[in-house]
Amino acid sequence: MPKQSFADKYGPYALVAGGSYGLGAAFAEGIARRGLNLVILARNKAALQATAARIADQYGVEVIAIEADLTDIGEVKKRISALDVEIGLLVYDAASVPIGPFADATEAQLESAVAVNVRAPLVLTKLLSTPMIDRGRGGVVLMSSLAGGQGSPNLATYAATKAFNTVLAEGLWKELAPRGVDVLVCTAGAIMTPGYEQAESSRPAPGTLPAVTVAEQTLNALGRGPVVIPGPVNKIGRFMMTRLLSRRATIGIMAKNTGGLS
Ligand SMILES: NC(=O)c1ccc[n+]([C@@H]2O[C@H](COP(=O)([O-])OP(=O)(O)OC[C@H]3O[C@@H](n4cnc5c(N)ncnc54)[C@H](OP(=O)(O)O)[C@@H]3O)[C@@H](O)[C@H]2O)c1
Repeated sequence: MPKQSFADKYGPYALVAGGSYGLGAAFAEGIARRGLNLVILARNKAALQATAARIADQYGVEVIAIEADLTDIGEVKKRISALDVEIGLLVYDAASVPIGPFADATEAQLESAVAVNVRAPLVLTKLLSTPMIDRGRGGVVLMSSLAGGQGSPNLATYAATKAFNTVLAEGLWKELAPRGVDVLVCTAGAIMTPGYEQAESSRPAPGTLPAVTVAEQTLNALGRGPVVIPGPVNKIGRFMMTRLLSRRATIGIMAKNTGGLS
């Protein structure tokens, strides 16, 4: 049987949750280059519309922009369900990142991290994978982080939400593969995005990758899951942290990298 193309397997539309700039926009662009139409969702209307217009113009695909806040999952579900399009691929990129000592975090910041990083990817995976299972084809990509491989001081809540995405995607990868739905988690190291530049005041961490590299390596890995770790430095780092060192040692290493964040 001839190999299915990316568009045959995951089209005709992909939803990128958090697709207006940075890594999310790189995902949207990589998907459009593979011939799919897009739904991109984010809060800032101007950035969203500029990205939608640029991608539609450059790749000749339809790009639907939804201005919405992922903390309001009821509204997000309503807006997505009202679309009269078939979504064969979900890329969940958006994140809420409370940085700094847990003692200083507000309850609202912690709740936002859970809403954007845990509840919304879970609910959207459920919403969109159900028709994918019925059709016997589709894909789901969840974004995780090397920070989620162990406790990460000063990023403890964010790291824990990313661990949720890793474990969820690994389980669904095995469960949904026989139903024709490919699930993949991207366990990324540092990525040069506006969010990263804002958080990181000093030099970029070793192995920091451009957003386009992370998006391309991830999209190319879809169907070969459960996990993709973009970049050789990050692959080695992950191997050391998860296979060679004790939990105590890996948390200590994370503390050296994240301990100064405020
Ligand atoms: N950057 C890194 O170094 C790094 C490292 C490892 C893993 N990751 C993961 O990679 C993903 C992208 O990271 P990034 O932080 O660099 O972001 P990004 O992809 O550069 O941008 C985040 C996107 O999400 C949207 N967004 C954020 N909060 C939202 C909300 N409440 N509702 C709707 N849209 C929202 C943003 O648009 P609006 O602000 O307009 O809403 C934007 O489109 C995240 O899942 C992150 O955990 C990043």
